[in-house]
Amino acid sequence: MNKNIWRCECGGLLDLEFDARFPLKEITKRKETLWRYREALPVEDDANIVSFDEGFTPLISVHFNQRNVLIKEDHLFPSGSFKDRGATVMVSKVKEIGVNRIVEDSSGNAGAALAAYAARAHILCDIFVPDYTSEGKLVQIRAYGVNLTKVKGSREDTSSEAMKFAAKYYYASHYWNPFFFHGTKTFSFEVCEQLGWKSPDTLILPVGNGSLLIGVYIGFQELMRENIIEKIPRFIGVQPENCAPLACSFKKGLNTIIPIEKKPTIAEGIMIANPIRGVQILNIVRESNGDFIEVSEEEIIEALKEMIAMGFYIEPTSAATIAGVKKYLPRSSSGEVIVSTFTGHGLKTTETLSKIF
Ligand SMILES: Cc1ncc(COP(=O)(O)O)c(C=O)c1O
Repeated sequence: MNKNIWRCECGGLLDLEFDARFPLKEITKRKETLWRYREALPVEDDANIVSFDEGFTPLISVHFNQRNVLIKEDHLFPSGSFKDRGATVMVSKVKEIGVNRIVEDSSGNAGAALAAYAARAHILCDIFVPDYTSEGKLVQIRAYGVNLTKVKGSREDTSSEAMKFAAKYYYASHYWNPFFFHGTKTFSFEVCEQLGWKSPDTLILPVGNGSLLIGVYIGFQELMRENIIEKIPRFIGVQPENCAPLACSFKKGLNTIIPIEKKPTIAEGIMIANPIRGVQILNIVRESNGDFIEVSEEEIIEALKEMIAMGFYIEPTSAATIAGVKKYLPRSSSGEVIVSTFTGHGLKTTETLSKIF
C-alpha cells in the first residue's frame, strides 16, 4: 500500500491483507529483535526501518501459589511499554510512504512510543493526551521533543481533538491504523519461538482499545496459515471493573458495544469506554473460546504490591492483568501453558506509586 490512508474510504476500519512468511532457519540465525521476523512485517525496503533493536523480550516463569505462569516482560522496551512493537513497524511504514508529520492520541504509553520513534526517524509528531495522564508519561513525551497537547475531559474527548488535527496530518493511531497491529503481532511470533514453535494454551491480556489483543490474534493466525503452529490459544481479556465495556457486552452475549458509565481506575491505560474495534475484539475472544475477567481497584493494587515485592517494577495498568491472572488460575487445568505479560514500566507512574508505597 503506498497511499497514506489510515481508514477505509467508507470511513470504517481498515485492515491489511498481507502474506507473512517464516523462514525458520534464517530467523533463528538473526539478531534477537522483533525485526528477525522480517518476511512477516509489511515494510518493503530495509532502508525505511526505524528501530532501536527492540523486542524479543524475556518470557519469564513467575510463581503464583502452586502454579507457574509465563510472563512476557514487555515493560522492558526502549520507551517502557509494549507499544514500541506497534510504533517501530508503523513509523517505518510512515517513513516508507513519505509522510513527515504524524498525529496520535493516547492515554500515555502509545504517545511515548510514537514520540520516541518519531524522534529517531526525524518525523514531526503531535501527541494528544487526557489531562489526567501520569506526569511520568507526560514528561517522557515532551522530552522527546514532540508537540504535546493535554485535553480536558475524557479519553474520548482527546480522540476527537486528535481526529480534527488528523484532517491535516497523518493519523498514526494505535487503534485505527492497521500497521500498528502488524507490529504488536510480533508478541505471538516471539512467544511461539520461545516455546519451541508451539502455541501456549491460554493468553491473558489487558484490553482497552485492543492494540495488543488484536495484533496478537493476527500473529497467531499468520503462524497457523503457514503451518508453524497447530492451534490458536484461548484469549482471556482483562478489564477493570470501573471501565469494562467489552466484558459487559461479552457477558450479555451482545455483538455491539453498549455505552457504559465509567468510573476512574488506577489502570489508566485500559480506561477505554468505547473501543472503536470492540466488535472485532469480542469476535476474537468468542472464536477462541475465551472469556473476559473484570478486576477491582483493590485487586489491582494487591497484584501491584505483590509483583513489586517480587522485584518486577510495573505500572498499575500492568498489575490489572496480573490481578486477572490470579482470578483465572483457580479454573485452569494442571499442565495448562498460560502466557501473560507486563505491558508497562513502573517508572512511568512514580506519582501513583508514591501514594501507594
Ligand atoms: C501499560 C498498558 N497496558 C495495556 C494497554 C492496553 O492497550 P490497548 O488499549 O491497545 O488494548 C495500554 C494502553 O495504553 C497500556 O498503556
